[in-house]
Amino acid sequence: MRKTHTAGALRATDEGKSVILAGWVHRRRDFGGLIFVDLRDRYGMTQITLDPQRVPAEVFKAVEGIRAEYVIEVEGTVHLRPEKMRNPKLATGDVEVFATKVIIHNAAKVPPFPIDTDGTDVDENLRLKYRYLDLRRERMARNLTLRHKLIKHMRDYMDRNGFIEVETPILFKSTPEGAREYLVPSRVHPGEFYALPQSPQQLKQLLMVGGIERYFQIARCFRDEDQRADRQPEFTQLDVEMSFVDRDDVMALIETMLVQFTTEQAALHGKRLLYTPFRRLTFAEAMGRYGNDKPDLRFGMEIFDVTVATRDSQFAVFAGAPGVRGIVAPGCAAYTRKQTDELIEFARKEGAKGLVVLHHDPEGIRGSGAGAKLSEAEKAALIAAGGSKPGDLLLLVADAEGIALNALGKLRVEMGTRLKLADPNVLAFAWVVDFPMFTWDKDDSRWVPNHHLFTAPRDEDLDKFETNPGEVKGKQYDLVCNGYEAGGGSIRIHRRDVQLRVMSLLGLSLEEAYKKFGHMLDAFEYGAPPHGGIAPGVDRLAMLFAGEPNIREVIAFPKNQQAADVMLGIPSAATDKQLKELSVSVTL
Ligand code: AMO
Repeated sequence: MRKTHTAGALRATDEGKSVILAGWVHRRRDFGGLIFVDLRDRYGMTQITLDPQRVPAEVFKAVEGIRAEYVIEVEGTVHLRPEKMRNPKLATGDVEVFATKVIIHNAAKVPPFPIDTDGTDVDENLRLKYRYLDLRRERMARNLTLRHKLIKHMRDYMDRNGFIEVETPILFKSTPEGAREYLVPSRVHPGEFYALPQSPQQLKQLLMVGGIERYFQIARCFRDEDQRADRQPEFTQLDVEMSFVDRDDVMALIETMLVQFTTEQAALHGKRLLYTPFRRLTFAEAMGRYGNDKPDLRFGMEIFDVTVATRDSQFAVFAGAPGVRGIVAPGCAAYTRKQTDELIEFARKEGAKGLVVLHHDPEGIRGSGAGAKLSEAEKAALIAAGGSKPGDLLLLVADAEGIALNALGKLRVEMGTRLKLADPNVLAFAWVVDFPMFTWDKDDSRWVPNHHLFTAPRDEDLDKFETNPGEVKGKQYDLVCNGYEAGGGSIRIHRRDVQLRVMSLLGLSLEEAYKKFGHMLDAFEYGAPPHGGIAPGVDRLAMLFAGEPNIREVIAFPKNQQAADVMLGIPSAATDKQLKELSVSVTL
């Protein structure tokens, strides 16, 4: 090791020490003969002072040419900075190193963007093209360190709790359910394909049949989905499976792990938990109160229902609607016509026919159209149901339940953001339970599993399968936080007959079921234990703890929003030779 210290290590107590530091030139300033260099590495920054009196002439001359991002190594002595030159914002701000020797390891071209900002003002594709430069930023070093600590915490915690990490293959079988898969052509078996796993779901269940009892894996998963701020085509899960457990065991395991990480690494991420124990909501509550199955619980602004109170309204929009629901935007009564028109447009884009906006003034509720038509009793009911106060704005959607809840849920998030109601330093973890097991896919005219087809139904709902599938609830649980789904899991089916009934409901014939999932159905005939598990998303948790608005900020080499890597230039075409070998032909 050539360095005696990192660039973040030196303090006043190191005064007088001979040191060797190495890293990148962050900034260089010339002061009448003296040159100051801020030397940076992953750990911090130290001021190097170059005095022509102390360094040999040829060294000083060489140093005069260095610029930002040159790689240098410096030998020197630690000095206390004069009192008024100290920098309290820098951990090493009390000291400077007087250089006696400087080696220039490498020069650097002028970077395409400055490294000494947090990067928010730089085009993201430019950052990604030069990711190796972008990674030099303090923000990226902090995020990757946080991610490392999170994964280390997970591994240590799972190990302490008797889990073993088992690797499962990346070349897996195509079982097209849920998201689209990535296919890998086989050379040895022309015309046949592997698929990259969307998750190790089936293999971890087979590990339970294999008697492993407590499995985990920091697992890479692949899904060919449309990209969003919280999605990547390849991402990482803490994949977990346990035998002989109930829903509460799995939830408690993960909750304790996250509570411990939050407290033990508070200095690194600065977040605190809003609810311990984590809140628990049923799916119906989450939808009814927040219009979302992954609600941001850092603020209230809950959806209220005034369907009954407005049934006989003189206001035709309310009287004629299947339901009337709303939210209260606190302190927004002074919104202008332009501002309220924007909100109406927002609701329309989210599928609502319109949005009724009412201002709550000191004199009561007013609003063009509706305000004049509503009776005093209706206005009182609105105020009571929404808990609105003078100065607030009421936003109401008169529509079918699903449409109204969706639009109001989105509007709630929009208003929460505008009004800065969500504390950025807080994590509001919650569990959402009692999901419907199946949803009806209108486009395909068939039932689809809400989680995946291995999720067990509640025991009391087994008999509703054939008669009333929409009423069946699954033993599924989602971990949600600040408006994101941070993890999902379930207790599984472990009996062949039940699994076949689910597959049949989903439209798979016995033959198809065996073709796709024969390995599971066979395994269930050889003493499969009851089991369940979960998979918290590592990238999403890292993003939440880092307080980043998108997942790419916590991944060293992410794909961009078009699922491409602009640094590597992928995806890219294959050569004719490669395609021939794989028996693949490309038609564009
Ligand atoms: P699920 O599909 O709900 O469950 O995924 C679990 C968690 O993985 C994360 N996640 C993603 N993160 C980034 N980019 C993506 N494209 C992406 N997709 C999912 C989320 C999500 O909550 N095998 C089951 C788990 C189980 O039942 O045990 C599964 O994969 O944080």
